[in-house]
Amino acid sequence: MVQFRLPRNSKIIEGKTFKFSKPTSTLKIFKIYRWDPETSDNPRLDTYEIDISTCGPMVLDALIKIKNEIDTTLTFRRSCREGICGSCSMNINGINTLACIQPIENLENKIKIYPLPHMEVIKDLVSNLSHAYAQYASIKPWLDTKTPTTSDRECLQSPEERAELDGKWECILCFCCTTSCPSYWWNEERYLGPASLLQTERWLADSRDKSTEERLEKLEDPFSLYRCHTIMNCTKTCPKGLNPAKAISNIKKRMVKRK
Ligand code: SF4
Ligand code: SF4
Ligand code: FES
Repeated sequence: MVQFRLPRNSKIIEGKTFKFSKPTSTLKIFKIYRWDPETSDNPRLDTYEIDISTCGPMVLDALIKIKNEIDTTLTFRRSCREGICGSCSMNINGINTLACIQPIENLENKIKIYPLPHMEVIKDLVSNLSHAYAQYASIKPWLDTKTPTTSDRECLQSPEERAELDGKWECILCFCCTTSCPSYWWNEERYLGPASLLQTERWLADSRDKSTEERLEKLEDPFSLYRCHTIMNCTKTCPKGLNPAKAISNIKKRMVKRK
């Protein structure tokens, strides 16, 4: 019988512990995934004890405190600190979310932080999103009006047409949904995944866009769209409260109408 084994150095080992100097009731323990591509060491879980009375309220504040005051080698992405750039997506206590809008006080005393699941890790909490972004680029995420605008006026929409974009334009491409989708884990080369599909629906739903037919035609294969099996992990995890599963189901309805 074939035996599958993980490579020896893929096992996560217990790492260093950075203890807080004195006991306090406001102590939280952060266990954080660490991996450095420049060494041949196994990934490890380092432990940091933080007095949260001296720290901002969100998990990202704790990560910044660790980097500034305890361990400058900790690597993670962040930019806006208010849930709009999508850079600080990571897995916190088993849930993909944005560290900058996840309050520490809502979490139990031991907080485990890993990079987004099932993606190649570049270092520590930084995942390689190149493939996911290439898939996003492949859907042509821009307005195609077919004819060049001749006037100097905006391309107008009625309030009802504009409302069709709600629940879609708010997507910040954090890929929490895509990396929580089991279908994507197994078919990432050919299945577009919920983030890129929600974005596809965003352009399909736009009354000003005139390339509906081409956009749908591109999805006419067994993988790009139809690997979604309505497992709903994507919708459950989206930190912006969006519903990629519904967007995908809308695209499937459009495909049926087209036939
Ligand atoms: S609903 Fe579709 S896209 Fe969302 S997690 Fe399930 S399979 Fe993936
Ligand atoms: S749908 Fe939600 S989880 Fe997915 S990329 Fe957009 S904002 Fe992130
Ligand atoms: S830092 Fe921008 S979304 Fe978290």
